[in-house]
Amino acid sequence: MLGNFTYCNPTKLYFGADSLEYLNTELPKYGDNVVLVYGGGSIKRNGLYDAVCEILNKQNKNVAEIAGVMPNPTLAKLREGIGIARNHHADLILAVGGGSVCDYSKALSVSVHCPDDPWEKYFIRFEEPDCELIPVGCVLTMVGTGSEMNAGSVITNQDTKQKIGHVFADEAVMPKFSILNPMVTMTLPYEQMVSGIYDIFNHICEQYFSGEDDCTSDYISEGLMRSVIHSADVAVQNPQDYEARSNLMWTATWALNTLVAKGKSTDWMVHMLSQAIGGVTNATHGMTLAAVSLPYYRHILPYGLHKFKRFAVNVWGVSTEGKSDTEIASEGLDCMERWMRSLGVTMHSRDLGATEQNLGRIADCVITMPGGYKVLTREEIEQILRESL
Ligand code: NZQ
Ligand code: ZN
Repeated sequence: MLGNFTYCNPTKLYFGADSLEYLNTELPKYGDNVVLVYGGGSIKRNGLYDAVCEILNKQNKNVAEIAGVMPNPTLAKLREGIGIARNHHADLILAVGGGSVCDYSKALSVSVHCPDDPWEKYFIRFEEPDCELIPVGCVLTMVGTGSEMNAGSVITNQDTKQKIGHVFADEAVMPKFSILNPMVTMTLPYEQMVSGIYDIFNHICEQYFSGEDDCTSDYISEGLMRSVIHSADVAVQNPQDYEARSNLMWTATWALNTLVAKGKSTDWMVHMLSQAIGGVTNATHGMTLAAVSLPYYRHILPYGLHKFKRFAVNVWGVSTEGKSDTEIASEGLDCMERWMRSLGVTMHSRDLGATEQNLGRIADCVITMPGGYKVLTREEIEQILRESL
């Protein structure tokens, strides 16, 4: 493991079927004014809203609500929420939902007391907050993003069609606590479950496919990937399998809570390509990742051959006998493709709204990252996007 790094993750996690009880432990640590943030209504249908409100009432909290946070939360919705949280003098933002609700709550946290325009400051200039932050707590309902234990926030500007994520360097942006109850995820539609599963897997890939040195993070990543593949196979057969769903929930958290990025330059180009598609089409995050992954990885395979060979052998169990390195590495991606198809994730970006006509616009929105095995040119970006159609 080469290089220098700092590791600090201040989020306290409560995990398991009984974990919501710990909201009673956390709430007294904050002031009376709570802003409850949630999505389009799934928590009302599955009973979680009532359970959370009961605890808030028991603790005599003064609650204001921000409802209707949409998948791929928008800047307009953020501006609306800033007004609500300011008027309420929020002491705590309680996010009850998936990555969108958690991301939104973090964006709100850094914006309520910020005199600048949050879009320009945080998502265009990528500045760190220099104002008071409102603490965020999460009750997670959807597995995949890792937002419950990281400082990432992805917001979509519908006017410019830009979907941009800021991973804040300041760990104060991370949730103070997150409650992870796998039972809550059982009501997820199948499509969201597999979208989240592929999101987890790709988060690990994005960090794994970088660097050349012998790095502990890669060994942890391989273990996490094998756990995701195994649990996904069980969950696809029986989505109500608690053990599989709880393993998926835990691996999602560890896939993107900064641990496996330590010592790595990290790639993130699959996410950059997918976010550009998402900004233009508003498609589901995990599906946009799935649609661009294979064209991208097959394109960079020659530049990271050693790592793709290792991936094939250590993650997919590909045998090496009588094969060239390229054949072994390619077989690994073939295994990944078969697995993705078995999940039923979207394999073509045209099924998400990308077209030959809007491809140039999507390419314009792709942010190029330097940490992977190949820094993409504009031509390569267009080629990969075209192959993803
Ligand atoms: O809005 P409701 O009605 O709650 O329905 C949601 C939503 O429609 C539904 N859902 C969530 N939990 C449910 C449920 N339905 C039934 N039962 C439940 N228990 O699922 C739908 C999707 O929810 P969403 O929060 O949008 O999904 P996800 O967790 O995948 O979050 C996606 C957002 O996170 C960003 C993505 O770009 C996207 O904007 N990401 C955040 C990251 C981070 N913070 O580090 C990293 C990721 O790479 C990602 O970019
Ligand atoms: Zn992701």
